[in-house]
Amino acid sequence: MAEMAMQYGDEQSRGLLQSQAHIWSHIFSFINSMTLKCAIELQIPDIINSHGGPMLLSELVEALSINKDKSHLVYRLMRMLVHSGFFVKQSVSITQGNQEEEGEGYLLTPASKLLLKDDPLCMRPFVLAILDPLLMDPWQHMSKWFQNDDINSFQTTHGKMIWDFAFQEPILNKLLNEAMATDAKLVPEVILKHCGGLFEGVDSIVDVGGGTGNLAKSIAEAFPNISCISFDLPHVIKGLDGSKNLTYVAGDMFEAIPKADAILMKWILHDWNDEECIKILTQCKKAIPSKNNGGKLIVMDMVVINDEPGNKTLETQLHFDMTMMTLVTGKERTEKEWAKLFVDAGFSDYKINPVLGFRSIIEVYP
Ligand SMILES: C[S@@+](CC[C@H](N)C(=O)[O-])C[C@H]1O[C@@H](n2cnc3c(N)ncnc32)[C@H](O)[C@@H]1O
Repeated sequence: MAEMAMQYGDEQSRGLLQSQAHIWSHIFSFINSMTLKCAIELQIPDIINSHGGPMLLSELVEALSINKDKSHLVYRLMRMLVHSGFFVKQSVSITQGNQEEEGEGYLLTPASKLLLKDDPLCMRPFVLAILDPLLMDPWQHMSKWFQNDDINSFQTTHGKMIWDFAFQEPILNKLLNEAMATDAKLVPEVILKHCGGLFEGVDSIVDVGGGTGNLAKSIAEAFPNISCISFDLPHVIKGLDGSKNLTYVAGDMFEAIPKADAILMKWILHDWNDEECIKILTQCKKAIPSKNNGGKLIVMDMVVINDEPGNKTLETQLHFDMTMMTLVTGKERTEKEWAKLFVDAGFSDYKINPVLGFRSIIEVYP
């Protein structure tokens, strides 16, 4: 290495080392995901939360359900998770016999609070679904998929499309439904706080691909005069009971969608390619009244922002886009791509409201 540094001169060797560091950081970035998954499986956020104050390493180790021969390794997992922003360390005084000593205890951060089992906005099912081997294995086959005729890497890995696999595999069905249900709790909070006008003049809605119905449930509760339908595939809504103004309807959105004033579609169109989206949008158009009679679609999805290297919102959007390519047939769309899709499906106009973080609410009019 010393020889190489001399050979290239200082600036060049600095550049080489930076490039090498860039590659190392990409090789190992999966460790961020995997340590997060491990922390959730070992219940670390809940254990620290129940402690009720800064938790010493020794107290954490004692509380963890692990092989105690591995106790001396826990600090390394915690050091990584502190570095990743899931825990912080805070000074704490410890009484040892008659002596007071200074120690350090772990506390939660805003991000790990979202991993607590009882938090209504808990994201742990999402972490556990996306990082489950069933959804991780397809990433190992991406290059093979680029060279074969399969529709996506999920098919290359599992031999079928994700929705058919979920129908046959209750484990995947549960993972997906639980992951989706967590997201469907956060979004209504934002919508009901900031976009109340969205439902003005609307007497009925259908949440198309509504999963287990959390979004429709929140709307039904907030607007008792709106009659709500949560519409999804039969195995997804099996055994679910509605309420006075919420009904579960089973069906296939490519075949027919129940009639309503407004149709909601959260995280649906990004699952499908343009041809498939046009088929879904055509069914939507048949199910709602004209624009003058109050008909509209409320699409909740991302609008991919302009390319600015290093922008974190764009990075998240690109991660989702790659996930759509690998697991389903969809993609994340720019405004231009959305506009073309709506025009091609016969809609006249749209309005984008970027109120959902890296996602937006897009109102689309017939
Ligand atoms: C990404 S999830 C979104 C769920 C929910 N909208 C949310 O955001 O939490 C996509 C949903 O579309 C449903 N789906 C897939 N194919 C469908 C079809 N042909 N007809 C109706 N729903 C379908 C899936 O079962 C799943 O619940």
